[in-house]
Amino acid sequence: MPRPCNLVVLLSGSGSNLQAMIDSFTQPGSPVCIRAVISNRADAYGLERAREAGIETRVLVHTGFEGREAFDQALMALVDCFEPDAVALAGFMRILSPAFVRHYHGRLLNIHPSLLPRHKGLHTHQRALEAGDTEHGCSVHFVTEELDGGPLVVQAAVAVASDDTPDTLAQRVHAQEHQIYPLAVRWFAEGRLRLGPHGVVFDGKPLATTGHLIRP
Ligand code: GRF
Repeated sequence: MPRPCNLVVLLSGSGSNLQAMIDSFTQPGSPVCIRAVISNRADAYGLERAREAGIETRVLVHTGFEGREAFDQALMALVDCFEPDAVALAGFMRILSPAFVRHYHGRLLNIHPSLLPRHKGLHTHQRALEAGDTEHGCSVHFVTEELDGGPLVVQAAVAVASDDTPDTLAQRVHAQEHQIYPLAVRWFAEGRLRLGPHGVVFDGKPLATTGHLIRP
């Protein structure tokens, strides 16, 4: 059996997506080994989840650095200590510098709480409601230098109800995030998913620019 794919997870907060990965990947024979969880915030609850699962944790606080590039260089050095085959951003609330993104090109994944390319950036649930969207959801994509603009891997849609609030919508979107992020990481680990020069390749074939789309 080939060795598991070494995964490093970066987060800043609650880490429910990390938890979904822990639940999915800590079985014997898993194709993914979560080597480390790194946070820029010492109080991120995700660190607690990692410790409980016996995963190594590191904290690198960004405030001590002179600028984004300096922090990102230190972060890269720390991440690389764990020899990652893949790096997953799971609620890592930092914009990453081009140098960081280039360094992990083709092995850096992110989850975003909207059906990209709609609603890049923050407050996506509120914005979906304000826009009158009938469908909302979440997306896993490879990270490129364009913020929330990298090639899509998989999206899950949820129907918007007329009485939804940002909170109720967020809950349903989150439940879908917990399905599609481990799925995408598993595909990557199994060698089914890669980023080619012309876009995402899945099972040896070019994937549609919308990625896999999962509808309720
Ligand atoms: C998720 O909504 C994800 O889409 C976004 O950040 C949030 C992280 O949530 N990138 P959690 O920390 O995994 O619970």
